[in-house]
Amino acid sequence: MAAFLIFLLVGAISFVHVKAVSGAVRSSQLSQHLRLRKPSSIYFSFLILIIFLGYSQYQEPQVLDNHPIDLLIRKGRVQWQTWYRQASTSESLAESAAEYQIRYQRHPPPGFDAWYRYAKERSSIIIDDYDSIVGDLQPFWGISPSQIRLRTQEVVSDPWNDVAGLIIRNGRGYLGPNFKPTHRWILDGILALIKDFSQFLPDMELAFNLNDEPRVAVPYRIFQKLQDIGASTKPTDLNSKNVLNTWSRDREEALKRPEGSKPVRKFGDQPRINSFSAASIACPPNSSARKAGVWDARNLCTSCAAPHSDGVFVSNWTLSASPCHQADLSNLHGFYLSPAAFKTSHELLPIFSQSKADGFADILYPSPWNYADKVKYASDPDTHPDRPFDKKEDTLFWRGSASEGVSQHGTWKGMMRQRLVHLANNLTTSSRSPTLPILLPHPTIPGKYSYQTLPSPISDLNLFLNISIVNITRAWDSDGAAQLAEFGLVPPTHFQDHWRYRYLLDMDGAGYSSRFLPFLQSRSLPFRAGIFRAWYDSRLTAWKHFIPIDIRLHGLFSTLAYFMGTRPQGKGRGHGMEANLDAGREIADAGREWAERVLRKEDMEVYMFRLLLEWGRLTDDRRDEIGFTG
Ligand SMILES: *[C@@H]1O[C@H](CO)[C@@H](O)[C@H](O)[C@H]1NC(C)=O
Ligand SMILES: *[C@@H]1O[C@H](CO)[C@@H](O)[C@H](O)[C@H]1NC(C)=O
Ligand SMILES: *[C@@H]1O[C@H](CO)[C@@H](O)[C@H](O)[C@H]1NC(C)=O
Ligand SMILES: *[C@@H]1O[C@H](CO)[C@@H](O)[C@H](O)[C@H]1NC(C)=O
Repeated sequence: MAAFLIFLLVGAISFVHVKAVSGAVRSSQLSQHLRLRKPSSIYFSFLILIIFLGYSQYQEPQVLDNHPIDLLIRKGRVQWQTWYRQASTSESLAESAAEYQIRYQRHPPPGFDAWYRYAKERSSIIIDDYDSIVGDLQPFWGISPSQIRLRTQEVVSDPWNDVAGLIIRNGRGYLGPNFKPTHRWILDGILALIKDFSQFLPDMELAFNLNDEPRVAVPYRIFQKLQDIGASTKPTDLNSKNVLNTWSRDREEALKRPEGSKPVRKFGDQPRINSFSAASIACPPNSSARKAGVWDARNLCTSCAAPHSDGVFVSNWTLSASPCHQADLSNLHGFYLSPAAFKTSHELLPIFSQSKADGFADILYPSPWNYADKVKYASDPDTHPDRPFDKKEDTLFWRGSASEGVSQHGTWKGMMRQRLVHLANNLTTSSRSPTLPILLPHPTIPGKYSYQTLPSPISDLNLFLNISIVNITRAWDSDGAAQLAEFGLVPPTHFQDHWRYRYLLDMDGAGYSSRFLPFLQSRSLPFRAGIFRAWYDSRLTAWKHFIPIDIRLHGLFSTLAYFMGTRPQGKGRGHGMEANLDAGREIADAGREWAERVLRKEDMEVYMFRLLLEWGRLTDDRRDEIGFTG
């Protein structure tokens, strides 16, 4: 069917061009009531490009027999079932150790029995699938244990590195020296996360990233080589009797710092400079990210989106985060456009981070922000009820600050959060709206769909959005004033007010968005756009547990139309879209139930425990000889 598709896409959302600022700052009330709002005194000239990616033999039929979202939801369901079936097949410690060997061609690390008991006691239903841990650690098998230990000590040696050390000694965790007191909560959160199992951990040191952004991007060839070594250093004979089920005895000795070692700065430091080429350094040299140079931000790059898309919808959420086929991301996300810190190493450093962009070699661990409930789902029947899905307000809601990157020289115009707010508040109301193709029921053929450009403002469709910025942060020079003029501000809302709304949008900030987990736990349906991935992404399936949105945002309205339904357009312009409330409710429920089963605090502990046992082995001088043998 794909051959029938004609993609109709609009690039209105790339760079916002403020043409004339002829009036005062728009009042905040206006942006709250966007459905009622008149076109503001500030107007914009959009640079619009409509691209027809036609398939030559089909001139006419832009007719789709099915709505792609129906198909994507079905695929999501199957994909998740397939994943779930293999995530926990073992039913005893022995089976689980055997399953480990089959999956990873190694013995489990020493202490695996304690981990297994811990996981079972906490009713973890994920016992076998820890591919994400094994994947994150694979390149580290390419460097020696002593090198890993040395690099850990180096990155924590100077507070400038923005990395903090955690020391495990005699089964207890301690804070290392040299960290910034402002980030103490991260370390306290980690200590809380590990305290119930630290007794099973060997002596070791760990380095935790204190910045929001990921830190380690290793060039393609070096990274591939390390991965290959990682894959080839597996034991040849898993039945060998010479495996020791114990840690090396001299681990503490091995952690002694060499005499006279000095603080070292281990990272490059390039804040507020486009980071795309450095951040995509792990992409193959022949990929478009490495070859294309900077994409002209004014055009929508349909060929960039195509590999992970079905029409305007994301069909592969994992792939959608890869910069390698998307040179245009360079201008579409604050992390690439103008990151706050970008203290990054191109050498493989052992850094534990809460989230990372694709191509980074940071090791993911469960965020202490979520574990310590810095932001949490806490509805309350009296003050902040989380009503059943059908009883919620039929609105897509987003509040946030402009914190994705540090704007300078107008870089905010490309950032995802700012593009979102612009898109939501300008295309919906202005009579000058450009025509934006939206997938709707075919105007004449019942039961079919087509991409249609509408002559009227999108608000005529009855798509309800309540999307505003609450604070302009991280802006230099005149960029703060320019953003204030464009967006206005609304007062912050109470976090627990989110549950009023049926659809919640989650967007990256400077790192992953810690709100996503509470969104998932609620009865609302989360939409998610972003490039950062966290530990839990290995357990979630797009279209099964949440709705993925391309970071170009060109599919947002078509997606909303599917769930909310639309009012029929004027004379002969279509039939209106019926709301798919059941589909939305089903995904909202599936996400909530799944989060209650596999993303609990207990699951974070179980994940961290297993990660640290693996780390213990990786940093052990006899790592090729030790393992759990039952
Ligand atoms: C938008 O959300 C705010 C905060 O929850 C609310 O006060 C306001 O009434 C909403 N606006 C509309 C038009 O629903
Ligand atoms: C890059 O080269 C590899 C093998 O040399 C090939 O498999 C791959 O398709 C190429 N990728 C692109 C985007 O050209
Ligand atoms: C999505 O893309 C990833 C990365 O390229 C690939 O490994 C995976 O098989 C794809 N998933 C599906 C469902 O196509
Ligand atoms: C906006 O952000 C600034 C800087 O982070 C902060 O000092 C200020 O309190 C924030 N204002 C609001 C209304 O949240």
